[in-house]
Amino acid sequence: MDNIIEFINLGKVYNQNKPNEVHALKNVSLKIKFGEMCAICGTSGAGKTTLLNIIGCLDSPTDGKYILQGEDVAKFGDRKLAALRNKCFGYVLQDYGLIENRTIYENVKVPLVFSNVKSKDFRAKIWHSLKTVGLENLEKRSVSELSGGQAQRVAIARALVNSPDTLLADEPTGALDTAIGSSIMDYFQKINEMGTTVIIVTHNEKIAARCQRIIHIENGEIVD
Ligand SMILES: Nc1ncnc2c1ncn2[C@@H]1O[C@H](COP(=O)(O)OP(=O)(O)OP(=O)(O)O)[C@@H](O)[C@H]1O
Ligand SMILES: [Mg+2]
Repeated sequence: MDNIIEFINLGKVYNQNKPNEVHALKNVSLKIKFGEMCAICGTSGAGKTTLLNIIGCLDSPTDGKYILQGEDVAKFGDRKLAALRNKCFGYVLQDYGLIENRTIYENVKVPLVFSNVKSKDFRAKIWHSLKTVGLENLEKRSVSELSGGQAQRVAIARALVNSPDTLLADEPTGALDTAIGSSIMDYFQKINEMGTTVIIVTHNEKIAARCQRIIHIENGEIVD
């Protein structure tokens, strides 16, 4: 099995059969290999977040098939989907999504609490994740005192703590200046080199160019 993710003629319609119906994805066929680092690039409203949410099993398609690691996602029940979301994917959001007034440590711990990891193993895993983003000495700091770049690194550490197969990031550099954004891309590159598949949504061509592969999406369709 070469592909971690495969979409076959996948479509997504929001508000189907209503006056405000939107065809956000149309006939998307796509294969992403294990260990790839790819960018999903396109203008605002192109369908990037919709595509990423479906990849991450946060939303489901209205048409076509999604094969994840060789299995048809449509056949998974709620429990399996919930387990997948926590184990297979790490999510990095544009606005970081951290719990304010809690420490870095407490924030990175969150996905572990919902996993099968034993609490005696939490500390080592959190430390390892924070080390990957160079924050291992700041674990007691409150996240409310961090710069944007540091907050994003905490978000990345949190996404990594369960050792996901795939890291998904929606506009991870969107709120950061160019130099900090570029250093965030260095971390994604390092994480990819350690074996994690990385998928980054961006409208920024320079950020996209840091990835091995760029998937362009326009108007809900993949374009070459
Ligand atoms: N929950 C929703 N309900 C209805 N329409 C939606 C919903 N989410 C997205 N859409 C519509 O689907 C289309 C694709 O949206 P999407 O958020 O995937 O675009 P995007 O490429 O991520 O844009 P941006 O760069 O602005 O984040 C847009 O026309 C949007 O208005
Ligand atoms: Mg978006």
